[in-house]
Amino acid sequence: MGGIAVLGDVDLKRAQRAADDIEKAFGVRTGAVRLDVTDQRDLVGVVDAVERDYGAIDILINNAANDPKVGATAGQEFSRVENFSLSAWENDIAVGLTGAFICCQVIGSRMAARNRGVVLNISSDLGIVAPDQRLYAKVGLSRDQQPVKPVTYSVVKHGIIGLTKYLATYWADQNVRVNALAPGGVMAAQSEEFLDRVNSRIPLGRLARPDEYKAAVAFLCSDASSYVTGAVLVADGGRTVW
Ligand SMILES: NC(=O)c1ccc[n+]([C@@H]2O[C@H](COP(=O)([O-])OP(=O)(O)OC[C@H]3O[C@@H](n4cnc5c(N)ncnc54)[C@H](O)[C@@H]3O)[C@@H](O)[C@H]2O)c1
Repeated sequence: MGGIAVLGDVDLKRAQRAADDIEKAFGVRTGAVRLDVTDQRDLVGVVDAVERDYGAIDILINNAANDPKVGATAGQEFSRVENFSLSAWENDIAVGLTGAFICCQVIGSRMAARNRGVVLNISSDLGIVAPDQRLYAKVGLSRDQQPVKPVTYSVVKHGIIGLTKYLATYWADQNVRVNALAPGGVMAAQSEEFLDRVNSRIPLGRLARPDEYKAAVAFLCSDASSYVTGAVLVADGGRTVW
């Protein structure tokens, strides 16, 4: 839509690959930078450099999160409440929630000072409802061995919605709109067994194709949503209405 997409990631190669793909697919200018959203000082330096190279940032999309993929084995990532380590708790909160706060603090504050800007925080259907742990169950494992979606994922994705509502009201009089997108699961390399289970819990009967969120993102990041702030746009195939 005429913007310059600058992708930031701790994994610079990943950001660069994605930026290249976007450039090729849409013929737009992109950029890639290495940044750690949990490191406030690092972020200030990167944001200074981005604004020098590309101009003022008009749109911030907070997307980074630890999101263990289905198929990961039981253990550190898919861990049960009883033995969930405090270090995993702290790391997940740091990336998903503190990181979004720091980006809002640094970039959103500059937008507020300029009286113009949009923030989009990426939540999840799991920011609306609790995970149905039966989706991840493995036959033959005892209850205490069963993999689960980590508790931190719910806390982060619900917290993102709280952050969104707080900042939407906080910056409303400085013309910075803050919204959240709650996407459902995206098709990737999930097993047939998992797909059967999850599809039966989605009214539209399938996970999302990777390109099915771009219109929602474009809407929330553009003037098309000029009267929308503090909102959560749920795009989940109906998953959370059942
Ligand atoms: N994939 C899905 O099915 C799905 C569904 C609903 C919501 N979401 C949400 O959408 C967002 C993107 O999901 P995804 O599947 O593309 O995730 P992903 O795991 O593929 O990508 C997350 C990215 O964050 C980066 N990252 C991690 N720590 C970082 C840090 N400290 N600083 C900067 N970058 C860091 C990772 O390197 C990675 O590239 C996440 O917030 C996720 O919770 C995903």
